[in-house]
Amino acid sequence: MTVTTENIPHRLAGRVALITGGSRGQGAAHALRLATEGATVYIADILDDDGHRTAGELQAKGLDVTYAHLDVTSTNDWEDLRNKISAAHQRLDILVNNAGIVHVTPIAEETLQAWNTVLSVNLTGAFLGLHTMIPLLRKGNRPAVVNTSSIFGPSGAVGYAAYAASKAGMLGLTRTAALEFADDGIRVNALVPGGVSTPLNAHEPGTGVVPETPMGRRADPAELAAAVAYLVSDDAAFVTGTELVVDGGFRAR
Ligand SMILES: NC(=O)c1ccc[n+]([C@@H]2O[C@H](COP(=O)([O-])OP(=O)(O)OC[C@H]3O[C@@H](n4cnc5c(N)ncnc54)[C@H](O)[C@@H]3O)[C@@H](O)[C@H]2O)c1
Repeated sequence: MTVTTENIPHRLAGRVALITGGSRGQGAAHALRLATEGATVYIADILDDDGHRTAGELQAKGLDVTYAHLDVTSTNDWEDLRNKISAAHQRLDILVNNAGIVHVTPIAEETLQAWNTVLSVNLTGAFLGLHTMIPLLRKGNRPAVVNTSSIFGPSGAVGYAAYAASKAGMLGLTRTAALEFADDGIRVNALVPGGVSTPLNAHEPGTGVVPETPMGRRADPAELAAAVAYLVSDDAAFVTGTELVVDGGFRAR
């Protein structure tokens, strides 16, 4: 049993959403879910062909989804996208900082360059998203932000030092942003996925964290998208500065 496309509520009508890393994987699933719930959705990524294809497929379903190029490490790209969304809507209601990369190397063999690249995409990218979009979020309609962490944020994982540090950093960024922007009415929460079937781990040897996952499988991306939709909806109106763990029981061990 997983999340189905039947009986999806319509909680996000009229809201304007931006999802980074939306060309494929969880980001594309978030776009499908948020747009199905009524949002106008921008997906932004460096994978332009995939992004245009994903947006086209969702548009073919009658959904309001637009692709925009964005390297989350580029301040210029963030400013260009802020100007584009500002010109079209004058505000942003939902920001999902989902873009991320994985790199697996033991600390003793890690390079500074690889470390910096992972931190730059996974953590600095989310900081830049918040920093750049805050003026539009402050004008937003019930604004909400979701930062994608990982079970390797609250836990350690051998070989994943840079990734785990970036995802732990996302939790600190989330809590601090929730405190700083509560007076503006902007809610900020973290999504903490366990193993999810996406291109990110498609080439991973073995089954990743499945053996340590009590439910014995990876998540379908739609199961994470349902959690994001809850966090940005009015159903989570009093939820900020916290973490929603969606991991099939991994953290309960
Ligand atoms: N798949 C898992 O098991 C899992 C588990 C926990 C957390 N996560 C996190 O979930 C998020 C989504 O990952 P996914 O599983 O959908 O993987 P994915 O590789 O399918 O998607 C990640 C997306 O981020 C984009 N991206 C990478 N660098 C970028 C950059 N500089 N600028 C803009 N976009 C960029 C990629 O092009 C890709 O479209 C990531 O933050 C990942 O760390 C994944």
